[in-house]
Amino acid sequence: MRVLVTGGAGFIGSHTVVALLEAGHEPVVVDNLSNARRSVLARIGEITGHHPEFHNADVRDRDAMKSVASAGFDACIHFAALKAVGESVEKPLLYYDNNVGGTISLLEVLIAADITTFVFSSSATVYGDPTILPVTEEMPIGVATNPYGWTKIMMEQVLRDVQDANPEWSVSLLRYFNPVGAHPSGLLGEDPLGTPNNLMPYVARVADGQLPRLRVFGGDYPTPDGTGVRDYIHVVDLAEGHVAALGTHSGDAGVHTYNLGTGQGSSVLEVVKSYENVSGKTIPYEVVERREGDVAANWADVTRAKSVLGWKTSRDLAEMCADSWRWQQGSR
Ligand code: NAD
Ligand code: WQD
Repeated sequence: MRVLVTGGAGFIGSHTVVALLEAGHEPVVVDNLSNARRSVLARIGEITGHHPEFHNADVRDRDAMKSVASAGFDACIHFAALKAVGESVEKPLLYYDNNVGGTISLLEVLIAADITTFVFSSSATVYGDPTILPVTEEMPIGVATNPYGWTKIMMEQVLRDVQDANPEWSVSLLRYFNPVGAHPSGLLGEDPLGTPNNLMPYVARVADGQLPRLRVFGGDYPTPDGTGVRDYIHVVDLAEGHVAALGTHSGDAGVHTYNLGTGQGSSVLEVVKSYENVSGKTIPYEVVERREGDVAANWADVTRAKSVLGWKTSRDLAEMCADSWRWQQGSR
């Protein structure tokens, strides 16, 4: 399949481009490089032996996207978005414009070009603060705690409505839990600008001495060790989930919603311990106040993805930490 991959130079996008190439597909990457480096494309080439076509374009640029789309595609995977929760609180209009506006603009171009299979990067954040765990896809959409979360809820609704109006469309809504880790080659990974907000990149920088200690946000949650529990998923497993969704649902009219996670929760302190084990470093930490907007626990029921897509994760927390650590130590 020829697949248009927006945001394909980013963290999850780049791993998915590798997985698509390894599965024999032909991805074409569009990215405005607002949160990615051009060198990622060469690294994808190094890993796979294939150099995907690349367009440095913004998904909101209709003319540029029309020109790219006119070459013809079997499907589009849409990763392009801004994702920093804190920044979205400070700059809500930037997030609504880039994420929701960008998706609407892209959808108009795809409809005009008759590209009708669409895979969307959604998030476990759409469940809000789940009352029942593990979370199934049937659970109602929750209340977001920040504009970033609202953009995901809104974009899902836009897509359900677009599919309703264009019944031949195949829309896959992939709700990622907490993607972490890196490519085992050490060539691709997550490289947040400034101080990381997310746990594993922060732990990585404590382990290599760039940051003095981890602040554990809350030690009094109703969880086994009192710290927050999340469903961390290796980015390579997540990438393979996209290939599986495309394989199952390309040209398959309807809206197909999946949780992509491992089905297992890990606490902050379990992540710290696992990272210490694989890195051989001590990770100093202090338990501080809860972070506003955090939920106590969130992990996925992945029954649907297993049975319908025939996909499940195969990489455990130790492997996620080991690959993150290899990437952290690499020169970039
Ligand atoms: P990322 O920032 O590494 O990748 C996003 C890419 O999109 C970047 O390369 C960026 O340059 C590009 N981009 C942003 N706006 C663009 C625009 N207007 N036009 C063209 N390119 C644009 O983030 P990621 O972690 O790879 O996330 C990919 C997708 O997955 C996003 O939609 C994100 O919201 C979603 N998601 C991420 C997580 C996570 O924890 N990483 C969890 C759930 C969902
Ligand atoms: C994980 C756990 C923190 C940092 C976020 C977004 C979500 C999704 C994925 C895109 C929590 C604790 C963290 C630190 C800590 N993104 N923590 N000290 O908040 O589950 O999800 O990324 O869709 O929308 O909200 O991930 O990695 O920030 O936190 O103690 O310095 O680690 O409290 O329990 P989160 P996270």
